[in-house]
Amino acid sequence: MISAAAAPTDRRPPDVSAENGWISENLPIECAVPDHVPLQSLLRASGLGFSKASSPHGDEPTERPDKALHGLTRDNGSRPPLVSALGAAAEEDVACFHFPGHRRGSAAPPSLAQLIGPAAFATTCRSSPTQREASKLFGSSETWFLVGGTTCGVQASVMATCSPGETLILPRNSHISATSAMVISGAVPKYVLPEYDPHWGIAGGVSPSQVAAAMEDLARDGKRPAAMLVTSPTYHGICSRVGEIAGLCHLAGVPLVVDEAHGGHFKFHREFPAAAMEQGADLAVQSTHKVLCSLTQSSMLHLAGDMVDRDRVGGASRPCRAPAPATSQLSENPAGIFDEAVALASEARDRIGKIAGISVLGSSGEFSGSPVMDPLRVTVLVAGLGISGYEADEILAEEHRILSELAGPSTVTFAINLGTRREDVERLAAGLGRLSASAAEGSREVQDIGGRRRAAPLEVPFEVPSVALSPREAFFARKRKVEVRRSAGEVCGELICTYPPGIPEALEFLLEAREKGAAISGAADCQLSSIVVCDS
Ligand SMILES: Cc1ncc(COP(=O)(O)O)c(C=O)c1O
Repeated sequence: MISAAAAPTDRRPPDVSAENGWISENLPIECAVPDHVPLQSLLRASGLGFSKASSPHGDEPTERPDKALHGLTRDNGSRPPLVSALGAAAEEDVACFHFPGHRRGSAAPPSLAQLIGPAAFATTCRSSPTQREASKLFGSSETWFLVGGTTCGVQASVMATCSPGETLILPRNSHISATSAMVISGAVPKYVLPEYDPHWGIAGGVSPSQVAAAMEDLARDGKRPAAMLVTSPTYHGICSRVGEIAGLCHLAGVPLVVDEAHGGHFKFHREFPAAAMEQGADLAVQSTHKVLCSLTQSSMLHLAGDMVDRDRVGGASRPCRAPAPATSQLSENPAGIFDEAVALASEARDRIGKIAGISVLGSSGEFSGSPVMDPLRVTVLVAGLGISGYEADEILAEEHRILSELAGPSTVTFAINLGTRREDVERLAAGLGRLSASAAEGSREVQDIGGRRRAAPLEVPFEVPSVALSPREAFFARKRKVEVRRSAGEVCGELICTYPPGIPEALEFLLEAREKGAAISGAADCQLSSIVVCDS
């Protein structure tokens, strides 16, 4: 899996947790941020486990864990639950003969320990006492902490609801985790086309009436879906009407799974859209690492109601569960924590909206079918500048040191979060202002990259495909490579995407997106001169 944070572009900072798989064993330990304390400060502040005596590397002595943890108490003297649990583990006087092999940090690679802080290695919690806290906080009947990201949570949810050969209704713009979920479970897709805005080159949500129509379609063929999966919000922050869709599904006795990878923060501010659990979803999966502050790959799977068998969810999620908590400490003081981020996002929108040639998504009701949006996701349309989103992204990174979250054919998306500072917003507004001015002057900055300039929107990337083979059949089919120009009529044997966002798209779209500078993932030949197809 490639997470959003590990997008295949070499200008992003290294993702240490993803690149050092062995760290993931310890991942949950690093997942908490007490109140407003940024993760790095927490790690630095705690210095857990590296007493002078125990450091094999002759590092500078750091505070004893118990001492360091005193700095992490709250005003009322209590410790956040996760810090408590981890602190207790760090303070144990034990001889360790267990994994992970760095033995609570004493054998951690010094350079890495220096980079991410020794505390990251120091504690190993063998139970998950705070899953219950998370369940209360997020309004589920049960919550599981996952490693492997929402990718694994979506796979577990589909496995828990669909048996081989059963039908899963899902939007055509679902993340590849949904496709891999169908490979694993053997579910067969019934796709629903999302709303698509060709001007923006962005897909939105699916509507309740589309869901109803898909169910009716299936009923006409004598079939019944085993589950419905909705992505809400999308990568661009666009939300479907989850409550209405849940109502429809439940009337039909169909469980609703929500891929809420981008909505883990929704519970924590009145201006955020309602969370899927609040709207009647049966299962919701959230990437705790995306907008909340945990490390890459940590995620939560929430269950509610009695439509889905709890034990089946437990069994399906077992391989990707965190042995220790991955919760955030928001439960302690959620009120107000996102106030500043919401204000900064609003300021960013206002300032960017005034820049000539650039529009901000959400300012003029682009997606009438899914009008609710995450205010922290700021997507700008740059096609008016005569460059593609990929090109704008490149200029912003190289010339202005502004790193976005996502680029598309005509847009660039910026994620505002708890760590965003006013200086960041100022740099963003100034950088986009410069980009606009350069475009107006036809300056070198834009023209250099604009050798490839072609700002016309790409063709619609989605259509409802006829399902020649189920994802599982295609995955296990014998394959061969063919030249792209000879591939018409073949069944694609690869999951090819622009990444992010990680949504398998039509070949024509991919070819054009690659021309415009998109990073392509999942193809054996990333130049896309050939593709792998299934033998018929
Ligand atoms: C809509 C959606 N679902 C699922 C995922 C997978 O999330 P994770 O990185 O937590 O595995 C992503 C990743 O970007 C996504 O955009």
